Amino acid sequence: MRTERHAGRIALLALAALAAAALRAETSGPATGRTAGEEEKPKAGGDWQHWHANNDVTDLPSAQRGARNFVSYCLGCHSLKYERWSRLGTDLGIPADLLQKDLLPPGDKPLQYIQTSMPPADAEAWFGKVPPDLSLMARARGRDYIYQFLKTFYVDPTRQTGANNLRLPTTAMPHVLSELEGLKRAVFREETRAAEGGSSRELVFDHFETLAPGRLSPVEYDRFVRDTVNFLDYVSEPTQTARRALGVWVVLFLLVFTWLAWLVKREYWKDVH
Ligand code: HEC
Repeated sequence: MRTERHAGRIALLALAALAAAALRAETSGPATGRTAGEEEKPKAGGDWQHWHANNDVTDLPSAQRGARNFVSYCLGCHSLKYERWSRLGTDLGIPADLLQKDLLPPGDKPLQYIQTSMPPADAEAWFGKVPPDLSLMARARGRDYIYQFLKTFYVDPTRQTGANNLRLPTTAMPHVLSELEGLKRAVFREETRAAEGGSSRELVFDHFETLAPGRLSPVEYDRFVRDTVNFLDYVSEPTQTARRALGVWVVLFLLVFTWLAWLVKREYWKDVH
């Protein structure tokens, strides 16, 4: 009996240690990124690698705005081939008539998948590659990646599209949001790095300079991008809100069940010892 109690205590301790480690891992990730950014006091955009989308998929109005943004600015080139219009309407609480009026392209039916009308062959000819389907992009690349991608376009006359990107250098995607964000220039500084057999010079991004303001203020543009990322995050796993809400109940059930099982075990073993 004593050894049993001893083993129970060890198991409890191990569980507590595991929980503490998990908690530390969760809080330390973004926190270190933030403090590093604050200490350096970077110039405009200098800390872009530490930008976080910080979106919230349970925020329905934000996801609805994101859906509107997607239809207006992305659907021309990108599909969401694993999501149907009707599912989007149900999940985001958009009534059928509004869905039809505001989001569905003319001629599309609610039961159809969300497809771009751009023929792949034309896309290939215009951009050199077919714009990828974005259904799973938030899971494949991460939310922060898309957020940084949409916020680090800059004017580059050497590129065919007139734009370049810090997150995906020499990207084939034009800066389709320039009308909203405005135009910015990337300023690079030369850095000398000690390398084997001497030193090498390389250009390192320093900061952005605004060339022309857009229709939205920086704060509004930031919200625009966050809403769009939020929507893509939802599309990449439409059930995630339900899954998380259900998870709490599953864990609670398991806890209660463990307690009941322990009570039963105690009752059974009472007569043996
Ligand atoms: C004019 C056509 C066009 C529009 C409109 C457009 N894109 Fe793209 N997009 C592209 C092309 C082309 C690529 C492929 C870029 C590459 O691989 O260099 C791409 C790639 C991407 C990628 C993947 C980047 C990667 O790492 O592979 C993401 C994410 C993306 N677009 C998001 C968006 C979002 C969000 C919108 C709407 C705000 C949008 N795009 C609007 C043409 C477009």
